[in-house]
Amino acid sequence: WLADMEGFGTLGDKVDDFKLLSSEELVSLNATLSPLKHASHGMIFARRSKLLWDLYDMKGMVMMQLRFDGVLGFPGGLVDDGETPLQGVNREMHEEIGLDLSKYSFTDGDRIASYVHEGKKLVLHFYMMEVSPEDFVLLEQRTLSAEEYGIETYGVVRVPLFTMGDGVRGFPAFLANQFAGNARDELIRGLLCSKLFTQQEMSVALKAYLSHSE
Ligand code: GTP
Ligand code: MN
Ligand code: MN
Ligand code: MN
Ligand code: MN
Repeated sequence: WLADMEGFGTLGDKVDDFKLLSSEELVSLNATLSPLKHASHGMIFARRSKLLWDLYDMKGMVMMQLRFDGVLGFPGGLVDDGETPLQGVNREMHEEIGLDLSKYSFTDGDRIASYVHEGKKLVLHFYMMEVSPEDFVLLEQRTLSAEEYGIETYGVVRVPLFTMGDGVRGFPAFLANQFAGNARDELIRGLLCSKLFTQQEMSVALKAYLSHSE
């Protein structure tokens, strides 16, 4: 299904410009493609089954944001010189959503995928962290006092994780937005990896999204 997604609504980058890396490829990359830039982004999520309007099961909460460039993405950003990708994601989380790193921080084991854009010599790392539903709501509220709020960050976004009766409104329609980098792929990967969506549910949603965006 990832192959079906190519070219949809990314700004500047085509989704197929990003290549998923195995851990061996990631290690050997520095030798073949340097100097490399790295960027790290993270998905904070919580599991909580909630029936909306007695109809749609909203299985959890996933945090994204509206970015300065007008498109959706995960909080995170470029890894600075002298930083590891892990240090980068944690620092950017603090800057962009005000994450209290003494209570919540990503670990190396939270990295679920890395991708390379060979043309840009850019490696993107994607991390995922589960928090309790109560903590999720508190973290959302704190984003308004993050130092980058109103500069790089223009509002936290909770992803609608259900599909309405017409088969399009809800999650499939959300996917039709424009996303930074390969954030749409990462959202899909994160939802499957966290088991918030089954493969079957995702394939139904992707079909609805693809037929709608034609
Ligand atoms: P500056 O501090 O202004 O440099 O921004 P930043 O460090 O916060 O960087 P940004 O979040 O824009 O990320 C850098 C690059 O990563 C972008 O140019 C995109 O190509 C890519 N990117 C942005 N958001 C996402 C995302 O959610 N997922 C992925 N994979 N890539 C993203
Ligand atoms: Mn940033
Ligand atoms: Mn950023
Ligand atoms: Mn930055
Ligand atoms: Mn910055």
